[in-house]
Amino acid sequence: MRKVVIAGNWKMYKTQSEAKTFFSEFPAHLKATASEAAIADQQILICVPYTNLAILQAVVPAIGNANFSIGAQNVHWAENGAFTGEISAPMLVELGIKYVIIGHSERRQFFGETDDTVNKRLKAAQTHGLTPILCVGESKQQRDRNETESWIFSQLAADLISIDQNNLIIAYEPIWAIGTGVTCDSTEANRVIGLIRSKLTNPNVTIQYGGSVKSDNIDEIMSQPEIDGVLVGGASLDPSGFARIVNYR
Ligand code: 13P
Repeated sequence: MRKVVIAGNWKMYKTQSEAKTFFSEFPAHLKATASEAAIADQQILICVPYTNLAILQAVVPAIGNANFSIGAQNVHWAENGAFTGEISAPMLVELGIKYVIIGHSERRQFFGETDDTVNKRLKAAQTHGLTPILCVGESKQQRDRNETESWIFSQLAADLISIDQNNLIIAYEPIWAIGTGVTCDSTEANRVIGLIRSKLTNPNVTIQYGGSVKSDNIDEIMSQPEIDGVLVGGASLDPSGFARIVNYR
């Protein structure tokens, strides 16, 4: 049985005070839009900047939903060391963090992340009991050159070396659909996610779609049989919009 995981990725948005404001409003929106029963069987998650992790862990109990977690957006492979600007898995674990995004296309594009470093980060996360959300996806140029499948298969082959597929979430995020308002057609996202699944040894891995997910396209996206959840950027910054996405049914 595949678990539904609805996740927000705040990227580099929200100061502590802005994050507190979001969480002062989000529980009421969640209650107004989503019944306890409707969201009982799904994981809800928001991956926030490091500076917000500790303060938001403290407000999570007030949300009153045992399926809600705060997550991180990256993690280093070493336990500690001279790695200026990085954060280790034990640092996240100490805060009670359980989920971490790894290999987001923005890390790969702007910060030199490679399949090798993604693989090391995945291993470190799992070693410390964190559940990684591995992001894969093609650029517009790769799609236009009909390289979508071969590119994603090469990412999976390299990223998943010696990775435990029993503690893994994958997000298919076509780069051309991120932050553009151009959503990948839901049937095409469903097709690619089915292909990703065909490359896995564990058929029960949750595979999300990400890229311009909004409250007005979530129902259509989640109606697709291969799509087990979403990774939401911009639309996760608004408490009422994200609550609606969580309650996609
Ligand atoms: P948007 O939802 O803003 O397109 O971002 C998607 C994303 O990159 C989530 O990780």
